Amino acid sequence: MYSKEDLQRGLKTRVVGSRLFVFDSIDSTSVCARTLAEAGTGDGAVVFADHQTSGRGRLGRLWVSDPGTNLLFSVLLRPPLRRDQSAFLTFYAAASVAKALETVTGRSTECKWPNDVLLNGKKCCGILLENSFAQDRLDFSIIGIGLNVNQREFDDELSLRATSLVRELNVEFDRKQLLQRILEEMDQFYPEVKEGHFNRVMKFWNDRCSMFGKNVKISQSGKQISGTAVGLSADGGLVLKTTHGETTFYAGDVTVSL
Ligand code: BTN
Repeated sequence: MYSKEDLQRGLKTRVVGSRLFVFDSIDSTSVCARTLAEAGTGDGAVVFADHQTSGRGRLGRLWVSDPGTNLLFSVLLRPPLRRDQSAFLTFYAAASVAKALETVTGRSTECKWPNDVLLNGKKCCGILLENSFAQDRLDFSIIGIGLNVNQREFDDELSLRATSLVRELNVEFDRKQLLQRILEEMDQFYPEVKEGHFNRVMKFWNDRCSMFGKNVKISQSGKQISGTAVGLSADGGLVLKTTHGETTFYAGDVTVSL
């Protein structure tokens, strides 16, 4: 259980984490961050919780996490981006998490489209990006991050796909140190991201994404589409070359065929 002062002490950031809201238990840090955003809370606020009673994942799923073992937080940002640039905030968050993980653990990571960070080929972090627009501009973005740190047990179905740092590395990690490192990495990328310059983020992300040029399957609303992952579209979608030509996807689960 952390207090706001615990998490603030030693945090070296300018914008990201400039305000912290800390809860023992909450429905969802992302729901709370949205309420704060709608009430006018400024750029860089972070909502952190030790436990979520209705943690939300992508595609309407739940995000389940044992209390007090992992990192569950949402970052409220207000970069003045165009709508077509906004999906890149997922890659920005993933690159920041991956960079922090590599520094803290000394291990390499993988980034998987659209929003996962993997350790030893298994997902340890999920990111849920929720954007709100005013006409064609981003008004605010809520970046929800769930990172499995010290949770040892997962239910059977989940343990096929998901992991945690302690399961992979057999060492428990200091959650506060890890959180601060992630916020610091986000803060360092932020000035360029705010200008809509994603080159450095995308170089980092692409260097850790191994699916391009490979055959993949994407599942979307119960349907599976196979093809070769060609690259990303200008607005961050995944371009697949299928038997019907090239198609761009904006959501779905991807598996790489062996
Ligand atoms: C995914 O499905 O991979 C994304 C999971 C995102 C979970 C995080 S936990 C903190 C934040 N609050 C939520 O309710 N969801 C995100």
